[in-house]
Amino acid sequence: MAFYYNNKSLGFILLTGLLIYNCKNEEKAPESATKKVIEYEMYQPSEMANFMNAMYAYNEQLKTKIVAGETPSAMPLDLLKLHSAEMTSGKSRTENWQSFVNVFIESQNTIIDTLSNLELKERFNASINNCLGCHKTECTGPIPKIKKLLIQ
Ligand code: HEC
Repeated sequence: MAFYYNNKSLGFILLTGLLIYNCKNEEKAPESATKKVIEYEMYQPSEMANFMNAMYAYNEQLKTKIVAGETPSAMPLDLLKLHSAEMTSGKSRTENWQSFVNVFIESQNTIIDTLSNLELKERFNASINNCLGCHKTECTGPIPKIKKLLIQ
C-alpha cells in the first residue's frame, strides 16, 4: 500500500474517517500526518469493528426517524453476532463486556417493540447508554461520537 505514501491528501481523508471511529483515537487532530498515515496502513478493522460501525449507522438512522416522529419497526442487524464476531487482536470479551452485552441486545430490541408502553425516546436513549456503559472500559475512543446519538 505504498500508494498512500504518494498521495498524502487521500491518506489524510481516509484517516479523518478513521479517527472518528477507531478505539485508540479520541477525536483529535493528528499531530503528525505522516506517522498516522503509517498507522492507517497497519489498521485492519476486525469483524467486530465492522459490526460496531454498522450498529452505529443503524442507530443514527433510528435517531433520525424517532426525531421525525416515525416509529421504527425493523432490526436489520443480527445482534447475536456480538457473541461470535472476531475482535481486534489483543481485545477479548471481558467481564465488563459480559455484563453489558445481553442487556444491550435486549434494549436494542425494545426500540422496535411497537407494543411497548415506554416512550420511544427513553427506550432509544437507554440502549445508547448501554453502548456507552460497555465502551467506558472496552474501547473509549468512540465515546464522544456515540454520545452524539443520544436524543436530547
Ligand atoms: C458489550 C460491549 C459493547 C457494546 C454494547 C457496544 N460496543 Fe462498540 N465496541 C466494543 C468493543 C470491545 C469494540 C472494539 C472492537 C474491536 O476492535 O474488535 C467496539 C468498537 C466500537 C467502535 C469502533 C469500531 C472501529 O472502527 O474500530 C464503534 C464506532 C462502536 N463500537 C460503536 C458502538 C455503538 C454505536 C454501540 C451501541 C449501538 C456499541 N458500540 C455497543 C464494545 C461494545
